[in-house]
Amino acid sequence: MSEVVQHVISVSQFTPSWIEELFDRATYWRRSLRRGSGVASSVLSRRVMTSLFYEPSTRTRLSFESAMLRLGGNVIGTEDAKQFSSATKGETLEDSIKVLAGYCDVIVLRHGDNDSAERAAAVSTVPIINAGAGSGEHPTQALLDLYTIAQVSGPPEDQHVVFVGDLNKGRTVHSLARLLAEQGARMAFVSPESMALPDHLRTELGDAISGEHRTLDDVITQADVIYMTRTQNERHEGGSAGAGDGSDYGLTRKIVQRMKPRATVLHPLPRNSEIPTWFDQDPRAYYINQAHRGVPIRMALLEMLLNPLPE
Ligand code: NCD
Repeated sequence: MSEVVQHVISVSQFTPSWIEELFDRATYWRRSLRRGSGVASSVLSRRVMTSLFYEPSTRTRLSFESAMLRLGGNVIGTEDAKQFSSATKGETLEDSIKVLAGYCDVIVLRHGDNDSAERAAAVSTVPIINAGAGSGEHPTQALLDLYTIAQVSGPPEDQHVVFVGDLNKGRTVHSLARLLAEQGARMAFVSPESMALPDHLRTELGDAISGEHRTLDDVITQADVIYMTRTQNERHEGGSAGAGDGSDYGLTRKIVQRMKPRATVLHPLPRNSEIPTWFDQDPRAYYINQAHRGVPIRMALLEMLLNPLPE
C-alpha cells in the first residue's frame, strides 16, 4: 500500500507503519476529545462526507458522522439507501457512486454485497471507505478493535485472542483476524459447525490459529481477549445458523468464573443474548469503551485520507 491510502477496502492494504501513524493520530484526537473541547478541530472545514448506508447501522454511521463533524467537516447522506435512494428505481451502485462523487470529498459505504466497496472504488473519483461489505470485510471496525486491544490488553503479538460466535458470516471477525495475524497474535475460534471460519480464511491465517473449538469452555482459561459476536441471522439461509440455545457461545456465570482475571471482553455490537447485561459491571467488559474508540479512530482515518500531512 502506498503511504497515501486512496480507498479503504480491505485490511490487507494496511502496513504496520500506516497503522502506527493512524493510532498515534487517534490517540491525539482521543485526548483532545477527553479534554472536552467540543468541536475538536477545523482541519476538514469545507470538506463534505457522504454516508451511504444500504444496510442498518448505529455505531459505524454515527461515529463516522461524529468524527467528520468534530474535524469541522460536513455530512450528507442517507441512512437507508435501499429505501430512500434511487436504488428503489433500479439505479446501480456504480451509477449512484459516480454521481455522489461529484457532491463530496469522501464516501462511506455500507452495502450487502461482498464486492461492493471494490466496485464503488473502481468508478469513484473520491475515496471510498468500506463501512461493511456483506459478509466480507469491515476494515474500520478492525482498526478500532485492534486499537482497543493494543491499548487495553497490550502488544497484539503477546495476545491469545479467542473469537466466539458467527465466524462464518461475521465480517468484523474476518477483518480483525487478518489484521491480528499480520500483527503476530495467536487466535482460537469457537463456533458451531454451521458458523465455522470460511475455508479460505482458515488457509490464509495458517499458523496464527491455535485451535478451533465447539465450546467456549474449552479455551476460556487461555484467553487474553475474548471477541464475542452475534449470529448474523440475516445472512444465513432460513434466518438461523443452528446455534441451538447459544449457551456454548455466550457468557455464563460459570464461564466468567474461569476467565483470566485480566482478560478483556470485546464485541463489535449489537449484542444479542451472548453477553448478558449483568456482565456489563465486570471490569473485564470493554465493549462500550471499544465502541467509543470508533470516533477518534475514524477522525484519524478521515484526516489521513483527506488532509495528509506533508512528508
Ligand atoms: C457489525 C457489522 O455491521 O458488521 N456492527 C458494527 O459495525 N459495529 C457487527 C454486527 O452487525 O453483528
